[in-house]
Amino acid sequence: MPNNGFTVWLTGLPSSGKSTLAALLAAELQDRGHPVVNLDGDEVRMRLSKGLGFSKEDRDENIRRISYVARVASDMGGVAITSAISPYREIRDEARAEIAQFVEVFVSCPVEVCIQRDVKGLYKKALAGEIKGFTGIDDPYEEPLDPELVVHTDLEEEQESIRRILDTLERLGLLSASENNGRAPAAGAPAVSDDEREQALTRLRGLGYLE
Ligand code: ADX
Repeated sequence: MPNNGFTVWLTGLPSSGKSTLAALLAAELQDRGHPVVNLDGDEVRMRLSKGLGFSKEDRDENIRRISYVARVASDMGGVAITSAISPYREIRDEARAEIAQFVEVFVSCPVEVCIQRDVKGLYKKALAGEIKGFTGIDDPYEEPLDPELVVHTDLEEEQESIRRILDTLERLGLLSASENNGRAPAAGAPAVSDDEREQALTRLRGLGYLE
């Protein structure tokens, strides 16, 4: 029996957009008939990883637990979507080694933009010194060196990022093209070049969004 399971591993700074993309992707894949488990970072912290803190050791343990559940779900033919910050490269690579079909998506967003969004108000607290060891402020985030895909949530619409993730899954043979149900191809949504990114950042600075 073919096993069509896989894991989409979203990684990125707090407020980069991981949970939003995870929820949209989960809904899209569910619509297409895939059994999906959305291991949302915050929910995991309240259940599976309750009691763990934010030391490197605890973060690594959090990732190991998520990775184990994702592997089991993928092995059973399901789709696991994870959206923990997962700041350390080594432990992400451990997850990659454990999970047969592993798709790492770097949810890229400049920290200045994440600070502007500050979905939960935690950057503000971290900048005020009320939270110590906050990722992106005084705790490391190690960017993936060779992810399957980079999405730029500061420059792309949500649906464009989702489109690019679906295209990547298709390119890797994890989704079939016939599942696309006449949706527009992504040819009009090329990856953002470094130049385009710089230009957009300059525009945002000009508008006063960034320093
Ligand atoms: S991870 O590093 O172990 O992957 P995870 O994604 O589970 O992190 O949890 C991150 C969430 O915990 C953040 O979105 C934020 O709401 C909260 N949080 C609380 N303290 C911290 C901290 N010191 N660093 C990062 N996130 C924190």
